[in-house]
Amino acid sequence: MRTYWPKPLLVSNGNLATHLATHKKPFSQAVASSPRRTGPFKMPIKGQAFALFQPFYDMDDAKKGKVLIAPPQEFIKTFEERISWVDTLISFKIPRLKNLTTTEHATYMYIEMMKSFVAGSVFNDAELSTKPKLGGLPKTADYSLEERMGGRDWTYAGDTMTGWARLDNIYNLLTDVIKNDIKGDYIETGVWRGGASVFAKASIQALEPNSTRMSYVCDSFHGLPPGERNLDKSDKNWDHSTYLEVSSDIVANNFIKYGMLDSHVVFAKGFFNETMPPLSKKIDKLSVMRLDVSTCTRFQAFHLLLINM
Ligand SMILES: C[S@@+](CC[C@H](N)C(=O)[O-])C[C@H]1O[C@@H](n2cnc3c(N)ncnc32)[C@H](O)[C@@H]1O
Repeated sequence: MRTYWPKPLLVSNGNLATHLATHKKPFSQAVASSPRRTGPFKMPIKGQAFALFQPFYDMDDAKKGKVLIAPPQEFIKTFEERISWVDTLISFKIPRLKNLTTTEHATYMYIEMMKSFVAGSVFNDAELSTKPKLGGLPKTADYSLEERMGGRDWTYAGDTMTGWARLDNIYNLLTDVIKNDIKGDYIETGVWRGGASVFAKASIQALEPNSTRMSYVCDSFHGLPPGERNLDKSDKNWDHSTYLEVSSDIVANNFIKYGMLDSHVVFAKGFFNETMPPLSKKIDKLSVMRLDVSTCTRFQAFHLLLINM
């Protein structure tokens, strides 16, 4: 084991919101003050052009927003009660759902809700579709659920541009990993607003309560590398798209918003050629890798990760 990530300290089960709930404080209060890091932790790690850090500890308290969505165990418990009650009031439940346990059905509800939130589809007609434009600001158009399901547009108010199908894929991969007891962490390179990583973390927490799997959230948090450093022709001029520039504070707050920021979330900030070598030295095993950048950059991130592990 070559990792130095701290075990949760104040957080008895690795989940901030559950910890807060046990302490009977509203989520938003406790998120506002970080626990003090103790022990031999080698974080944050900073280079000239990169930083590895845990926003749970390292983010300014003043910049932390509020938890808006309770974490999975709270939701699942509430939905289980609802399902158990409503099931006594009906004469027939379709087999597709009848064959699920109450917990499985409630977990399914939580995951679907999270998917709608991070993809922005929860907002229905209040959501917009953003049409990227090279060399100019994007325009908006009416949002279509069909496009969003296929991940064929960019969200306006949501937290990921991946769309439902790719989110389903993340959930299915993690289900497979957890059901088959495969060890290893989750990494995403190219996170934009962080919604897909938040969804992955929510899936892990829902499927494996008290999980100690790490989530590595890697991005420049400043868009694509400048033109002369682009590796891929298809990246040309996208470095001028401010819509792709999302700060690490916004992404960390997206984790907080869904009750998903705990000590198991590590941000690797910087271009991949700077972050992957030091980050890979910290990673023991990966179970799911999501490399959401252009083909060439994806290969670079993958290559740098693997050769250094
Ligand atoms: C297509 S977006 C990722 C979408 C995201 N996975 C989601 O769920 O919506 C690409 C992201 O990769 C980042 N990026 C592109 N090239 C990079 C590089 N060489 N190093 C670091 N970040 C990079 C950009 O800042 C941007 O946030």
